[in-house]
Amino acid sequence: MTPHEPPIDRRGTSSEKWEKYAGRDILPLWVADMDLPTAPFVLNAVRKRLEHPILGYTAPPNRMVEAFTAWLGERYGWRVDEDWLVWIPGVVTGFNVAARAAAIEGDDLVVPAPVYGPILKVPANVGLRGVISPLVLNGGRWEMDLDDLAAKVSPATAAVLFCNPQNPTGRVYDRDELEALAELVLRNKTIVISDEIHCPIVLDPTKQHVPIAGLDRSIEARSISLFAPTKAFNFPGLNAAVAVIPDPCLREAYESVGTGLISTYTPLAFAALTAAFEDDTDWLDEQNAFLAGNARRLETAVAGIDGIRTTRVEGTYLAWLDVSSLGLADAVAAFEDHGLGLHAGEEFGGPGFLRFNFGCPRSILAQAIDRLVEAAGVLGKL
Ligand SMILES: Cc1ncc(COP(=O)(O)O)c(C=O)c1O
Repeated sequence: MTPHEPPIDRRGTSSEKWEKYAGRDILPLWVADMDLPTAPFVLNAVRKRLEHPILGYTAPPNRMVEAFTAWLGERYGWRVDEDWLVWIPGVVTGFNVAARAAAIEGDDLVVPAPVYGPILKVPANVGLRGVISPLVLNGGRWEMDLDDLAAKVSPATAAVLFCNPQNPTGRVYDRDELEALAELVLRNKTIVISDEIHCPIVLDPTKQHVPIAGLDRSIEARSISLFAPTKAFNFPGLNAAVAVIPDPCLREAYESVGTGLISTYTPLAFAALTAAFEDDTDWLDEQNAFLAGNARRLETAVAGIDGIRTTRVEGTYLAWLDVSSLGLADAVAAFEDHGLGLHAGEEFGGPGFLRFNFGCPRSILAQAIDRLVEAAGVLGKL
């Protein structure tokens, strides 16, 4: 039996993803939210917390803090101190506050892109100059252009805003790529703000996620790393994340910038985080195997479509489709007309591209692939 069939009906839950196309025959494959169930042990933990009749203000539970530090240590070999952790209501909040803290020390923010849209907006949000370093396609994989980065990262750089595993290209950066970036950060005495929200979702068995701050003690001291299990265990709606800030001065700057602006955490988010970090079942491996099956099906299908190209997804449940050769003025609208709701490449700094969220049951993916084939056939003839 194929898992996750029949698909779960999300109507009536005010799902942002589904409401966008309510009443229209358009498959919503845009925002990074999966149509797969939240991990059952996460749901159980939330239910259990609801058995208590009071949902009061809640401090970070020791059990969660211990589970998270053990999680980083066991999965990634990075030993962190409990004092380095700042619990936050989301990774987007985390990198905006981090950039404001970094802004005290510099003029510009260097951003390898295309990248998750809200990261691109950070320089304007915090009043710094945004300096884009375009990723390059090399032998079928997206890479940072280290020469370009070396020319752009300078002592005036407040921070490098970084995303790994990379949204939207699906890259899981190798250790040597991370070492090269870390070396640039250290040489210029700047910091790296690293969004690692997708780190549990590695689909290529030859790949291993490496937290950049865990490379060694020197880059650790110049880092703010942001984690959340909300993508992998599928509870993005609970707004929960954690910043790891080893350097005490940087942590103090971060905390003072956030004072009075960041709401307190919810007990339900803490229950969910604890359950996710404590998970010692095969659930995540099985889900990653399922997602890898989806990735390979999509890649194989796209390889047979004239006018669309893509690259191998190593991590995340997002594929980055190059539709530039179709020459569409409005690619999103053109694919919506064929029943596909994809995410505009422009939002990630990649015009001519569309992002495809394949975190869905196989039957939805199969339907989406049929529509993609049909759409490319029609649009390619215009
Ligand atoms: C790379 C990346 N960072 C952050 C987020 C959002 O994180 P949060 O909901 O914790 O703010 C997303 C969601 O799509 C994402 O893909």
